[in-house]
Amino acid sequence: MVQLTLPKNSKVTAGRHHPAPEGAQRVKTFRVYRYDPENPDNPRWDTYDVDVDACGPMVLDVLIHIKNTVDATLAFRRSCREGVCGSCAMNIGGRNTLACTHGWEEVPGKECQISPLPHMPVIKDLVPDMTLFYAQYASIEPWLHTKSPEPEKEWLQSPEDREKLDGLYECILCACCTTSCPSYWWNGEKYLGPATLLQSYRWLSDSRDEATGERLDALEDPFKLYRCHTIMNCAQVCPKGLNPAKAIAEVKKMLVDRVV
Ligand code: SF4
Ligand code: SF4
Ligand code: FES
Repeated sequence: MVQLTLPKNSKVTAGRHHPAPEGAQRVKTFRVYRYDPENPDNPRWDTYDVDVDACGPMVLDVLIHIKNTVDATLAFRRSCREGVCGSCAMNIGGRNTLACTHGWEEVPGKECQISPLPHMPVIKDLVPDMTLFYAQYASIEPWLHTKSPEPEKEWLQSPEDREKLDGLYECILCACCTTSCPSYWWNGEKYLGPATLLQSYRWLSDSRDEATGERLDALEDPFKLYRCHTIMNCAQVCPKGLNPAKAIAEVKKMLVDRVV
């Protein structure tokens, strides 16, 4: 039988423990993945016993509290703090989600584990390298393609046509879905993944777009689209309640319909 061994430097070791301040009444332990590319040591799990009465209700509040009062070296991304920018996506208690909208009380038990989005290279601590993800998004040309002469004012849509974009335009490109997709884990270089494919369907559904044929041609490939095996992890984790698997099925249907 083949013996698979992880490279030595991929093993995550036990890290530093930061005890709660004296007098803390309610304490929850946050086990946080730490990796510093400038340090030759293996990645490690640092544990922080946090006085949760000193924090706001969300996991992002805890991370900001840790950075401000316990350990300024902790790196993570955030911007809007209200589930709009997508930058605070990470794996919290085993689930990809947004740190700013996920309450620490939602993670049961005394300990909450926090790690970067899975199966992406890590730049530092909780900051993943999104280069491939954004390149894949750019590859679908996510803007309106028109051939007709430009109207004098805006391109109009009927309310019914506008409604077709609901459930698609709300995507914030957080990558929670893509990094929870087993097909993307194994074929991430070639399979576009649920976020990019949902975005692709957003442009295919737009009544003003005039590049449907070209867009479908670009997706007709054994890997880019057809690696979706309807495992549905994507729909389960999307923090905006979207359903990329359904959008992917609609794209497949469009390809079938144009052949028939
Ligand atoms: S439904 Fe498709 S895109 Fe979604 S997790 Fe499964 S394989 Fe990935
Ligand atoms: S579909 Fe949902 S989980 Fe995926 S990138 Fe968009 S908002 Fe994030
Ligand atoms: S900080 Fe913007 S989505 Fe969380």
